Amino acid sequence: MRAPFGVVVITGASSGLGAALARAYAGPKVALGLLGRDRQRLDATARACEGKGATVSAAMMDVTEVSDMASWLCEFDRRHGVDLLVANAGTSAGPNPDSPSEGAEAVARQVGVNLLGAINTVEPLLPAMCSRARGRVAVVASIAAYRGLPYSPGYCASKAGLRAYAEALRPRLERHGVGMTVVCPGFFDSPMTDRFDGPTPFLLSSERAARIVKRGIDRGRRRIAFPWPLVFGLQFCDLAPAVIGDAILRHYRFRIHPAQ
Ligand SMILES: NC(=O)c1ccc[n+]([C@@H]2O[C@H](COP(=O)([O-])OP(=O)(O)OC[C@H]3O[C@@H](n4cnc5c(N)ncnc54)[C@H](OP(=O)(O)O)[C@@H]3O)[C@@H](O)[C@H]2O)c1
Repeated sequence: MRAPFGVVVITGASSGLGAALARAYAGPKVALGLLGRDRQRLDATARACEGKGATVSAAMMDVTEVSDMASWLCEFDRRHGVDLLVANAGTSAGPNPDSPSEGAEAVARQVGVNLLGAINTVEPLLPAMCSRARGRVAVVASIAAYRGLPYSPGYCASKAGLRAYAEALRPRLERHGVGMTVVCPGFFDSPMTDRFDGPTPFLLSSERAARIVKRGIDRGRRRIAFPWPLVFGLQFCDLAPAVIGDAILRHYRFRIHPAQ
């Protein structure tokens, strides 16, 4: 299918899903704005995309830096006119197995990157996108947005918040001709998953996950959630009485090792 988007911004493009999405959208007559923090890996994504004929502007940027994000995004938009904005950058952590919680600092870090970082990505471009009355925003949440999982309280809080934020915006943006896609993936292979210690059922490659996400975005889907057994499983845990959901999830032994 021919990508309907010619100007695409992706955060977290230096790794995993973001890098795979950048490569998937790259092509002749496509301008890409790629953001990440690791210069070597971001440059590698940029080179791969240029090799496919795309024009690339890559920038080292921490999504928690409110004004740097706004300046770079608005400047890129003035030059190109963004029609797809993908807020994908994310981080994950979890408590030690013998500790009841993960601590305020770790929770704040995840909420800062996954929720506030996505908001810092989306908000600056909404006025321009809405005034052009075209384009789409996609935020990468997680199936963890459907039900809190005992192994990652801060991560679940950040992704549930992101899903709620994006779904609240969606009808407002649609009135202005701008679409919103909320992406809720299950497990896919990436440096983030390399830190997971436990079962990762239905694990996909990041390329396969990117193909599913791109197809959904290009078709204008409001929500992309996969794989369906995990989505339904977590929706069941959410809808069932809390005692049943808790009893099911309590037995899921899982640990997320901290990022280096
Ligand atoms: N992997 C999974 O199974 C899974 C499942 C559901 C949802 N997700 C979500 O999918 C998204 C992509 O995850 P992934 O698995 O591809 O992870 P990944 O390989 O660890 O990549 C994360 C990306 O986010 C960037 N990032 C992290 N903190 C940042 C910050 N403060 N400022 C700017 N960029 C930052 C990283 O940049 P640098 O590396 O340059 O620092 C990297 O490019 C995340 O939102 C994640 O929560 C992942």
